[in-house]
Amino acid sequence: MPVLRSIRARFAREQPLAGVRVAACLHVTAETANLVRAFVAGGAEVGLCAANPISTQDDVADALSGEAEVLGRRGDDPVPHVIALAATEPQVTLDDGADLLSVLHAQGRAGTLLGGTEETTTGLVRLRALELACPVLAVNEARTERLFNDHYGTGQSTLDGILRATNLLLAGRTFVVVGYGWTGRGIANRARGAGAQVIVCEIDPMRALEARMEGFEVMPALLAAERGDVFVTVTGSRDVLGTEHFARMKDGAVLANAGHFDIEIDLGALRAAAAGGVREVLPLVDSYDLGDGRRLNLLASGRVVNLAAGQGHPAAVMDMSFANQALAVEHLVRHGSELAPGVHPVPDAVDSEVARLKLESLGVEIDEATEGQLRYGEGWGRR
Ligand code: ADE
Repeated sequence: MPVLRSIRARFAREQPLAGVRVAACLHVTAETANLVRAFVAGGAEVGLCAANPISTQDDVADALSGEAEVLGRRGDDPVPHVIALAATEPQVTLDDGADLLSVLHAQGRAGTLLGGTEETTTGLVRLRALELACPVLAVNEARTERLFNDHYGTGQSTLDGILRATNLLLAGRTFVVVGYGWTGRGIANRARGAGAQVIVCEIDPMRALEARMEGFEVMPALLAAERGDVFVTVTGSRDVLGTEHFARMKDGAVLANAGHFDIEIDLGALRAAAAGGVREVLPLVDSYDLGDGRRLNLLASGRVVNLAAGQGHPAAVMDMSFANQALAVEHLVRHGSELAPGVHPVPDAVDSEVARLKLESLGVEIDEATEGQLRYGEGWGRR
């Protein structure tokens, strides 16, 4: 993680987080450990708990324990740990799904924070619905984050999770992506790259049009239900595949969710449809027997498949996310008290710095605008 490494080296020199209490509710992985170490190098006191207990790497949690307070291990109920972390009186929070800040908000304590950051689309939806008492930087929406995390990262790791769980050959299959946001685009492109025929289902006309112009088939989910061999939900919403879809699906169809919560596939409806019972046929693959000769295969109990069945994002992706997180936290420590409560974009300067450091790590050089070009741009700005 070269970008984060260079930030960590600067943090160690400059100590921008000296004495700041940072609480992070993230996936407890080796990549997150590097972020924690960057904060500790910058002088912070760090507490960490899992945003999703199934992704916790216990060896990482153990290894970090001397450097930060790490609450919980794989499979634990996350709620008591989130509440315990909230009780440590953090000054800055980091969330992957908004659980920690939601607890502080519900306790009326968010106003004591310099601010928080949010890593996911789902978390931002939750936070924007609240009357927040502190500023939050939308790391999820930083340009560098979107490109690497949503597009390349989740695109690749979702396919990786599906393939690890099933060992399916994707070439020649019909692969249905429900939701064409940044993540859906990444998944659709990777599936096409693997030789699948890709169908996109999307409720937003602009996104649906874009999918069509990119060369994907676009249609309502009920029609796609009849065609798909593999279905991936990535909408951030709930019950996007339900009773009517299951009724039309082919025998052997594979169902996976790449959205943050396990609510995108209606699991209650799937259980209700399984007149012939449910059987684990492979680790992470449950076969739902519909009692009419058809079986539907649900991966990872409908939980976020890239983390539950794969290893999550590659380090090169988390390098960009966590570089944004590190610089966003530094920004909150320096300027959080000047920011109004509510969700704010990550400052452009942070985004540009992350992109610059990444290019530097790749050994890529770029041009700078000349004096004349700068004056030209400014001239237009004054008109
Ligand atoms: N989210 C997705 N992949 C991750 C990873 N490897 N570490 C932390 N958070 C993640």
